[in-house]
Amino acid sequence: MTVIREISGQEHEHVFQFQDDATGLTGFLAIHNTNLGPALGGIRIRPYRADLPALSDALRLSRAMTYKTALAELPCGGGKAVLIDHHDLRREAAFEEFGRLVDLCGGQFFAGPDVGTWPEDLQAVRRATKYCAEDSSPELGDIAEHTAIGVWHAMRACLDAAGIQHPRVAIQGVGNVGMHLGRILHRGGFELIVADIDRDRASTAAQDLGARVVSPDEILTCQCDVLAPCALGAVMNMYSVPKLQTKIVCGSANNVLASPEDGDALLKRGIIYAPDYLANAGGVIRGAEYYLLGLQDSRSSLMRIYDRMKRVLDLSRERNCSTARIADELAEARWKGVQPVRAPV
Ligand code: NAI
Repeated sequence: MTVIREISGQEHEHVFQFQDDATGLTGFLAIHNTNLGPALGGIRIRPYRADLPALSDALRLSRAMTYKTALAELPCGGGKAVLIDHHDLRREAAFEEFGRLVDLCGGQFFAGPDVGTWPEDLQAVRRATKYCAEDSSPELGDIAEHTAIGVWHAMRACLDAAGIQHPRVAIQGVGNVGMHLGRILHRGGFELIVADIDRDRASTAAQDLGARVVSPDEILTCQCDVLAPCALGAVMNMYSVPKLQTKIVCGSANNVLASPEDGDALLKRGIIYAPDYLANAGGVIRGAEYYLLGLQDSRSSLMRIYDRMKRVLDLSRERNCSTARIADELAEARWKGVQPVRAPV
């Protein structure tokens, strides 16, 4: 029997703590905002050592999701589930139990994959609720590829603003998204520099994309037109920004800025920054359009990332304000400016 406790006093609509002794399920479900529609959010599972960091991840990541879906003009809000992994967890039964909790939310939360979840986990959730992304069906397509296409559209807007036609692009991390992005850029005939802590991945990029490989220590400061962080967060920080030798920063990684002040520092240095959740929204756009709207194709929605990026750049220039702050303002205007239509949880 799962015990569910609601935690109040947050800016979130709902934050549930749950525990089920039979399966070992324990964690948090945060629904940040549903003014625009159901809260989309991944299920993250990690061996958290205490409740507080798990709760903090659920709060922070669900909030970020609201901003991302709002700016992407999706009829959705933001949520996040965080499950605590431990030795006594009966994984399959625990995910199924979690699915029952999602089902109780009656469609206010729509779950998807995130760090630590496998397709089998989502299948278990799906047995208990229809409010969960399930599969990699051919119509859905490759989510990482959609993310990369979105990054490319944001990058195009940045290149147009900077008047650069044949850029040299440095990609930090040629994993799922970075490699797809590399392929797009390679097809465009652009010069590529790559780095990855996984040497095999870097070699594949060298071979398949004709990329020059540099060490992970060098990639952030190498001479290029575009730096595409596609690996880690917080890579734009007080140490890296002064040393950058790029004109544009545009990649897929989440939380690229260590702090909002690093966005200000990029503006001061005249470096164009594509806000992370604007540039990397392609995957979530595809997921939302496929699962919630039943659309066969999201190409035109992904192309709108170009217009969104252009608008953010125009406002940034007019107001001499960082692109990150402008993106936050636009997202807030959208999700805060809508009257909530809520079903009871
Ligand atoms: P991934 O795990 O497939 O690729 C990340 C790559 O970065 C790996 O090849 C890894 O070896 C490399 N890496 C890690 N640390 C590094 C370092 N210090 N220097 C150089 N390379 C390093 O992950 P994926 O799916 O490609 O995602 C990349 C980033 O984009 C992540 O930050 C993720 O949160 C973000 N993102 C991904 C989306 C998706 O659709 N997969 C959607 C939105 C954001």
